[in-house]
Amino acid sequence: MTASKSNQNVVSISIDNSGVDPQTNFSLNPTFAAIVDSRMARRNFIKGSMGAAMAAFLGSTLAGCNSNSDDTSSAGPTVPPVTSAPLLGFAAIATNRADTITVPAGYTARPFLPWGTPLSGSYPAYLADGSNSGSEQEQQVGMHHDGMHFFPIDSRTSAENSAEGLLVFNHEYIDNNLIHPNGITTVPRLADEVRKEVAAHGVTVAHIQKQADGSWALVNNSPFNRRITGATPMELAGPVRGSAKVVTKYSPDGHRTRGTLNNCGNGYTPWGTYLTCEENWAGYFVNTDAEQPREHRRYGVPANNGRYLWETATPAADQYQRFNASTLAADASADYRNEPNTFGWIVEIDPFNPDSVPQKRTALGRFGHEGIIFGKLEEGKPLVFYSGDDSRFEYIYKFVSAAPYFQNTAGGHLLNDGILYVARFNDDGSGEWLPLDLNNPDFVAKVATAGGVFADQADVLINTRLAADIVGATKMDRPEWGAVHPETGEVYFTLTNNSRRTEDQLDAANPRANNTTGHIIRWHERNSQEATAFDWDIFLLAGDVGTATPDSELTLTADNHLASPDGLWFDKNGLLWIQTDMSGSQQGEGPYGNNQMLVADPVTRQIKRFLVGPTDCEVTGISATPDMKTLFVNIQHPGDRSAPDNFTSNWPDGGNSRPRSATVVITKDDGGVIGS
Ligand code: FEO
Ligand code: CA
Ligand code: CA
Repeated sequence: MTASKSNQNVVSISIDNSGVDPQTNFSLNPTFAAIVDSRMARRNFIKGSMGAAMAAFLGSTLAGCNSNSDDTSSAGPTVPPVTSAPLLGFAAIATNRADTITVPAGYTARPFLPWGTPLSGSYPAYLADGSNSGSEQEQQVGMHHDGMHFFPIDSRTSAENSAEGLLVFNHEYIDNNLIHPNGITTVPRLADEVRKEVAAHGVTVAHIQKQADGSWALVNNSPFNRRITGATPMELAGPVRGSAKVVTKYSPDGHRTRGTLNNCGNGYTPWGTYLTCEENWAGYFVNTDAEQPREHRRYGVPANNGRYLWETATPAADQYQRFNASTLAADASADYRNEPNTFGWIVEIDPFNPDSVPQKRTALGRFGHEGIIFGKLEEGKPLVFYSGDDSRFEYIYKFVSAAPYFQNTAGGHLLNDGILYVARFNDDGSGEWLPLDLNNPDFVAKVATAGGVFADQADVLINTRLAADIVGATKMDRPEWGAVHPETGEVYFTLTNNSRRTEDQLDAANPRANNTTGHIIRWHERNSQEATAFDWDIFLLAGDVGTATPDSELTLTADNHLASPDGLWFDKNGLLWIQTDMSGSQQGEGPYGNNQMLVADPVTRQIKRFLVGPTDCEVTGISATPDMKTLFVNIQHPGDRSAPDNFTSNWPDGGNSRPRSATVVITKDDGGVIGS
């Protein structure tokens, strides 16, 4: 980052808004240099999972797969179609670079709840010149919408209401050129500008209702409407609670922290709570010490200044000074060394209790959490879920709860105790989940070989990336979102891109050097979801028209060429929705147009482009009503390359307006199921 005076009153801070952490994995654990034998991988995957489905598909429009069978010698039972609606019944749309939302013929897309929307009728109105204050932003929808979930208003009972609910969504980061009237005023920063930026982060809970014309409206003055920000008090839960490494001036017992930051992807629980994920949190801090501790260094805490220089806020206040995690021994009152250790977690929020204190679930590990996705729910069996660490050469993780899931007793306690695993993708198409658990002899032996570097399980979790290095996990091409097929339990993961992978770092799961366009990998667990062995293959290699995915019939066409897949979601009918996050230059110069959303049939690999976003945006975050007749999609940072006095997009308000991130409500004009 560089800060410079561009004119008398405007300070332009140039930052990398791509959301990419600096590469911090320089461990020596192996990247598999063996030549790709994806035919072997593909063969294993088909035998284990897709054979039955492919056979069934020959005679039907949709068949599921049997992923719970370890019997690779015969096809397992097929899963009946989950819908009778024709799938992918729309005409694919072409790429474009228009400053608007484009959806297929027969669909309508309406912007909803843009940045700055007051959360109740009595709250301060959005000011189009960007002049809302910090305290006003605390009562308005935040910036840079990302992961999202629609909770039907009856979530705690039947969860069938498709006309009223709580829309909960993340605000990943902010655009300092757009959040104030003329960008950042000065460095050191003005405290109220910092207050506004902190408040524009976090999560929004919005109580919404469907209207007669198919649009949706905020329920004004609903007690559920709530902002959670980068300053909201939170609890640390699980093994790290009370650890000496999370003792701070704010929380001498190591039980609490303030705020959640860089909330990217999301998840939700079967008991009706929301999970928000802290991704590129490290950049908000600074540690100028000559030697940073490993729990800072391995995560890329900057050595010069925080991402938005919040640590310089003037007049100085503890809540902003805390972003300077350097050792300042001369003044014990300014010791914030452990503040970054209270970030990098999955945070559970109960949207149905406006007074609830968000819980950071430390058992799930500390890294650049992109998102979190649950496996299939099975009564009496452990909960299983997956989370990717989005940085170059980082890993994919799995958590298996210690206690079994029972619908009647399920709750956040299930997220406090379990085993965290990291993935190794073998070149023959098999895979292993490697435990990061000091009760496991294999892990203890590997840690001993590495020098016995962990004091206790809290130390393992605070240093999750180091633990994964030690066990030899597979370094991936930036794991973004995951999605679990609602019937088969198969897991799909986007690997968005990795331009730094070289020929000598190839492995079968990351098979392309200078991987600028990314791919989607998938696997099925052997025997049961909590298994430690799986089989995998590559579902899609992204790229220009003509890009072929080996050992499949898939060759991309003008209907579906794409780059940098990121958001990923299965709808209840088994369609896989893929959202892209191409960089500004990839959108501006590449053959792909603006960022977009596509839909795939996972069985046939038929893929069609469904939506193209406005100029310089990212398409990310997706949810739907239970009847699948309203789809919610988030448009993040339209006009990403704007200067304070030169907007590159005017979406959604048009004219010469300041661009704003917003949700888009998509309905089918005939009232039908989305995607049919
Ligand atoms: Fe926030 Fe990895 O995207
Ligand atoms: Ca993302
Ligand atoms: Ca991304």
